[in-house]
Amino acid sequence: MRTATAPGKVILLGEHSVVFGETALAAALPFGVTVRAEARASGGVELVAPLAPKGDPRVMEAVRLVARELGVESTRLEVDTDLPVGGGLGSSAAFAVAACRALAPQPVSNDEMNRIAFLAEQLFHGTPSGVDHSVSIHGGIIRFRRGPPVQVERVVPKRPLRLVVAFTGKTRQTSANVAALRKRVEEDPARYRPIVERLGALAEGGASDVETGALAALGGLMDEAHALLASCELSSPELDAIVAAAKGAGALGAKLTGAGGGGSAIALCDDAAPVAAAIAARGFGARIVELAS
Ligand code: MEV
Repeated sequence: MRTATAPGKVILLGEHSVVFGETALAAALPFGVTVRAEARASGGVELVAPLAPKGDPRVMEAVRLVARELGVESTRLEVDTDLPVGGGLGSSAAFAVAACRALAPQPVSNDEMNRIAFLAEQLFHGTPSGVDHSVSIHGGIIRFRRGPPVQVERVVPKRPLRLVVAFTGKTRQTSANVAALRKRVEEDPARYRPIVERLGALAEGGASDVETGALAALGGLMDEAHALLASCELSSPELDAIVAAAKGAGALGAKLTGAGGGGSAIALCDDAAPVAAAIAARGFGARIVELAS
């Protein structure tokens, strides 16, 4: 039996624009997905997983794909996660990375894991940028560009980032949201291209702010990113309510994270407890995390 874990993620800045080749700033969460793999002589691939709505064939397809790529014919996999599935926190990417780690007969290189996890992510999300599984593989905080070639650089925070991660309770389809923005950009490039470019510039600026510890400035960029994403109809009443509650309780900045339209939001805080309490008082799950490296 081999047990492996991989972290979920938050996108601090640059979701959606990253699909168009702009920079994203993403951070691994201190929780994620655990996969236990038990080798078997025969019987094919069996999966015990609370990871997807029952009957979602993509989970099994992804497991079979990962096993096939690693040359594993028979195995029993058990999956546990404390990420909300479809909640914008990278559960599918963490699942793919943890499955690679648990199933691989020998340790796999990051490049190989990247290749296999990307194939699995394509099953879940169609045309992902690759940021979710990249940050799950590398951990920490990264500045990411999809390329080609893919660029992943570690961003070391001068001061720890204190975040409240809040789940709306509503799941969403990343591929549908990505396709909706692509359609807008194609149909009205004069309006939407500058927004996409600005979101990328915010991510670049945010990476510098993380490195210099300019957290108030970073919060301001997050607020602007949320407004821009909302102007592309990627927010939701629940996400806006979380953002408003966080700001009202003193957050430095708050925004949706991930594909939007549901899923999760993040708030950057000096003092996270009152922000988490304000979000919880509106009926949303809120978790405080500290990102220190
Ligand atoms: C999803 O976590 C982030 C998006 O930018 C999609 C992607 O990068 O593949 C919305």
